[in-house]
Formats: sequence, C-alpha cells, structure tokens
Amino acid sequence: MDAESIADAAYIVAALLFILALAGLSRHESSRQGIIYGIAGMAIALVAVSGQVFENIDAEGGLLLAVAVVIGAGIGLWRAKVVEMTGMPELIALLHSFVGLAAVLVGWNGYYEVEDDPNQTEFAGSLLDIHHAEVFIGVFIGAVTFTGSIVAYLKLSAKIKSAPLMLPAKNLLNIGMLVAFAGLTIAFTVEPSLGLLIAVTVVALALGVHLVASIGGGDMPVVVSMLNSYSGWAAAASGFLLSNNLLITTGALVGSSGAYLSFIMCKAMNRSFISVIAGGFGIEAPAGEDTEYGEHREINADGAAEMLADADSVIITPGYGMATAQAQHAVAELTRKLRERGITVRFGIHPVAGRLPGHMNVLLAEAKVPYDIVLEMDEINDDFPSTSVVLVIGANDTVNPAAIDDPTSPIAGMPVLHVWESSHVIVFKRSMATGYAGVQNPLFFKENTQMLFGDAKARVEDILRGLDLLVSAGSGSAHR
Ligand code: TAP
Repeated sequence: MDAESIADAAYIVAALLFILALAGLSRHESSRQGIIYGIAGMAIALVAVSGQVFENIDAEGGLLLAVAVVIGAGIGLWRAKVVEMTGMPELIALLHSFVGLAAVLVGWNGYYEVEDDPNQTEFAGSLLDIHHAEVFIGVFIGAVTFTGSIVAYLKLSAKIKSAPLMLPAKNLLNIGMLVAFAGLTIAFTVEPSLGLLIAVTVVALALGVHLVASIGGGDMPVVVSMLNSYSGWAAAASGFLLSNNLLITTGALVGSSGAYLSFIMCKAMNRSFISVIAGGFGIEAPAGEDTEYGEHREINADGAAEMLADADSVIITPGYGMATAQAQHAVAELTRKLRERGITVRFGIHPVAGRLPGHMNVLLAEAKVPYDIVLEMDEINDDFPSTSVVLVIGANDTVNPAAIDDPTSPIAGMPVLHVWESSHVIVFKRSMATGYAGVQNPLFFKENTQMLFGDAKARVEDILRGLDLLVSAGSGSAHR
C-alpha cells in the first residue's frame, strides 16, 4: 500500500470517529466517551496529514512545521488549562476566528498557486473555473467567519457593548454585500485578478463585522453556534482547495451540526432562524427604555432563611451569576438542608441560562445535585403559581417578564421562566445592573419580589448559617 492509500484509510477512520464523537456528545451520560472518540480521531488525522506533508517537503520545511505545531499545541494546552468555564464561549469564538483566517490564507494561496505558475497547474479548462470559484467562496466564508468571530469574542468578553448595532438600512447593507459577492464571484471566475480578490476579502470582512455587531446580547448563544457552523463550511472550502477529503468531511460535519444546533436554539428561544443568521434581518430598533418601574424591595439573608424555613415548595432558577460566584456547592448544600426539612426543592433551567448550552446542568451535576430535581423550563413553567418561594440566583434575562409583556423589548418573544407567578421571589445579585442583553428587568420591582444583594455564594452561605440558627433556636413550622 502506498502512503496516499494509507492516509486515505486513516482519514476514513478519523471521519467515523468524529461522527461517533458527535453522537456521544449529544447525551450527558455518553459525553466523556464522545470526547475520547474526538481526541482519537484528531490524533489519527494529525499523524496521517503530517506523514503526507513530510513526504513532500524538505528538511527545513519539516523543521519549521514541527516548530509551529509544538508552539500551537503548547498555547492550546495552556489556554485549555487556565480557561474558566464562564470564559469558554469567548475562547470558542476566538478559535472560530482562526479557522476563518486559515480559510482566507488557504484561498489566497490557491489563487497564487495558479497565478505564479499557470503552465504547471493541474487545472485545465472548466476545472480551472471551478478552482477559481472555490478560491473565492473559501475566502468569502473564511473572512466572514474571521471578523464575525472576533466581534463575537469582543462581545462575549464584554470588551465591547453587547447591544445590537442599528445602522440605518442595515438589512439593505447586508443584502448589498451579498449581491456584491455574487457579482464579484462571476467576474472572478471569468477573469481572475488580484483586485477582485482584494475586493471580495474586504466585502466579506465588513459583512462579518456587521452581521454579528447587529445581533443583540440575548441572541449571542445562537450567534456562537452559527459561527461554529460557518467555520465548518470555511474548513470544507479549504478542504476542496487542498484536495483533502478529511477536511471536507469534517468541515461538513461541523457546518451541518452547527447549523442544526443554531436551528434548535432559535426554536427554543422563539427566534426566526433566518433572521438570526442574516444578522438580525427584519428586527428594527427597539423603542427607547424610559419606563419608570418604581421602587425595589430588599431582604437580608436572615429574612430569606426565615422565609425558606416556612416554605412548602421552593424552585431555584440559576443563571450566569451562579457560575461567576461559583455558588453551586453552597446552593447544593442549601438544597440538601431544605429537603431534609421536608421542603420540596426543584431547579428550573432555562435553555440559555449562563453562557454555554447546558452550563447550569454541568455546574449542578458537579455539585452533585440529583438529576431528577433539575427540570427544563418547559417542564416547570406551569408550577410557579403553586410555589411558595423562588430563588433567582444570578439569573436576569432568563426571568425577565418584559420578554412577554413588552413587544418593544429586544428580548420580546423569548420564552422565560415565569418566576413572578410564585408567592415570593428572592433575587440574588450584586446590584440593580441589567443582564447580558442589557435590558432592565421589571421583575425586580414587582410586589412579591425582594432583592438580596451581594455575591451569590456569600449570600447563600449566610442563609445556610441563618437556617442553622433557626434550627438551634427551635423555630420553623410543623413539618420541619
Ligand atoms: P444574565 O442575564 O447574564 O444575568 C446574570 C446576572 O448575574 C447579572 O444581572 C449579574 O447582576 C448577576 N451576577 C453576576 N455575578 C454575580 C455574582 N458573583 N453574584 C451574584 N450575582 C451575580 O444571566 P442569565 O439569566 O443566565 O441569562 C443568560 C444570558 O446570556 C442570556 O441573555 C443569553 O442569551 C446570554 N448568552 C447565553 C449563552 C448560552 S448558550 N447559555 C451564550 C451567550 C450568551 P449583578 O452584576 O448586579 O450582580
């Protein structure tokens, strides 16, 4: 068997392992196995592609490549070790930008390969036209992914505001850039030139910035999975240019699974898929926020402990603040104590609570909260009216009634947890600041809501001490 056939066989094995990895990652119980398949697939792919490359380059090139791989792997290992879970989405966005940039460079290289040596080229006639179209499409998708991912990174890491950019005629701008791309592609296929390649790169870089900048904070989860999808298609385009079957297969897997995830997330958040992938197409500027909500009420930890001790049923709705405060272990301890007193305690998990799909589930599983009391939003939303106390721990957008009551709100239409329908709501947060989407939350001003200010972990620990004091003082109602 020659080296080419061995590499092809290895690519097939790697592609199958990637499919098994995706299947494994789709369920909690099999996710660890899925990751092992993914690592094995990537290791096989790396060995196979290195073997092919080293066969075709001289010693100096080989050394350069080895140094680049060692530096890249070192940086990757270091980042993976130090990243906090709350920083994962921004790291993922940054990694997507590298895929986009790589696709742009591969595309430009594809152009120069033919330009520099038109007679030596393996392409002839219509194959050459196809090659030019591949160059153009690869550069376009890559450049959109590159700048789009950088804007997503800046938004997710709060380096720029997450509010949507609302340029006048923004929809026309997007359509104009797409039309320009179509026109430039035809022109380039007929008569390729450096000028046209520069033009499409600039248009695509601008489109990437505009698409993601136009999307509001509340829709960022969908944007991250959408950019994941774009990065897959960019990799597939590079695969065509480099004639690498594994890159085509893997790119298509990432592209289609990312698109499907975006679709599922849009459904869960009652958003139009087309509108989100087209940079908030059709969404107009919301009316200014000048509503006067009145005064909020406050409670301290001892008061909260007493309220909880008298409750029959409690629902905890955690959000991003529980993750930043690392309050999950204290929350698990509170859950255990309340259940010991005969109080029903359950969790209500919003599909986009936190900053990652499944973020809250992972934290609660880590703190050993039993799976069977952790319910999805749809499973628990009807139970709030019969609930004594809801603890909103570091959640904000996901419990915002404006999504239902205010059609002009940027989060209008997004399904939320109906916490305000319970008898009492206690909101744990450090200030009256807005949530990720940057919109005020009328929940904080409702009659039955009380704010418990401070770091979520410290406040839950204060409540635990308050409950202990109540026990030693022999207080609490009959069933405790
Ligand atoms: P957010 O709306 O982000 O609000 C979190 C709240 O936690 C903030 O209002 C903050 O208020 C509070 N907080 C922060 N640190 C805290 C601490 N140490 N102790 C106590 N409170 C703290 O949270 P959410 O309800 O989970 O909503 C998630 C948002 O992120 C949605 O808009 C969603 O679309 C977006 N998003 C989600 C994802 C995924 S996939 N889940 C990805 C990207 C974006 P203070 O500053 O006043 O404390």
